[in-house]
Amino acid sequence: MASSNPTASPAPWKSLFLEHVSKQEDPYMAVATVERDPKSGSSIPRVRYCGFRGFFGELKLHHSAEKQLKEENELNPSLYESDLLAFTTDVRMQKVEQFGDFEGAIEVVFWVKEVMAQWRLRGKAFVIGDDANKPAERESRSEISKSLRRKPNPSDDSEASAENWTWENEVTAYFANHSPIMRGSFKNPAPGQPLSEEPTDPNLKLGQKVTGLHDAIARANFRVVVIRVEEVDRLDLTRTERAVRWRISDSNKTGQWEEVELWP
Ligand SMILES: Cc1cc2nc3c(=O)[nH]c(=O)nc-3n(C[C@H](O)[C@H](O)[C@H](O)COP(=O)(O)O)c2cc1C
Repeated sequence: MASSNPTASPAPWKSLFLEHVSKQEDPYMAVATVERDPKSGSSIPRVRYCGFRGFFGELKLHHSAEKQLKEENELNPSLYESDLLAFTTDVRMQKVEQFGDFEGAIEVVFWVKEVMAQWRLRGKAFVIGDDANKPAERESRSEISKSLRRKPNPSDDSEASAENWTWENEVTAYFANHSPIMRGSFKNPAPGQPLSEEPTDPNLKLGQKVTGLHDAIARANFRVVVIRVEEVDRLDLTRTERAVRWRISDSNKTGQWEEVELWP
């Protein structure tokens, strides 16, 4: 069960952002984090592409994933919506440690050429998918809960009650939405380590297929990253002679978004 904020309404940028991003068949975003350089101790930027997995609570399941979750009785009722961006990752990747070192600092950027729009979204990342008793997992779930809204028109279905919604099922749904080979990638040798370092654990190999939802090794590494957006910078290049730029921010983190048009 997740508590939620019943009074809040969607962020003012959400519908246009979705309209734009949905022009792309398979949207990817560049994800920027901050790393502490181990030698000098200074802060350095890191950036990489990740697949955008929609807004947290609103995951659009592939047919086969939905079928498998239903068969295993692990499908959450569709109760929540949010303005939180989601992507999946492997806990062994560096970005996860960087979130820990820099209070979840994150910026992502999308270039949607179809509508000549750049969307930069800055905020705080929360990582879920670990044991529910770990303090960091509890903290992430609790912070995410504050930004979940109950959908305005929940179905009359008796299953659609908050008691039937669990964090475990939600993370499992993201895992289920990956193909067997992608699920198997969470059992790869440690990402980013030299190839010359053979893993000591024989279960860690490239190219494995995982068909089940609860492979212990893959699930121990699998995480969902949830981004609470605090500032949006939208650049519209439709008219090159008069580009349009907006800053939309929730500086007080109260859901009171302020929109300012900027010189581009
Ligand atoms: C098209 C594309 C999609 C990717 N999607 C993801 C993703 O969804 N999640 C992820 O963690 N890495 C993804 N990657 C790999 C990352 O770019 C990166 O190599 C990896 O996350 C390790 O980065 P890190 O160690 O700095 O965290 C993707 C790469 C490409 C090229």
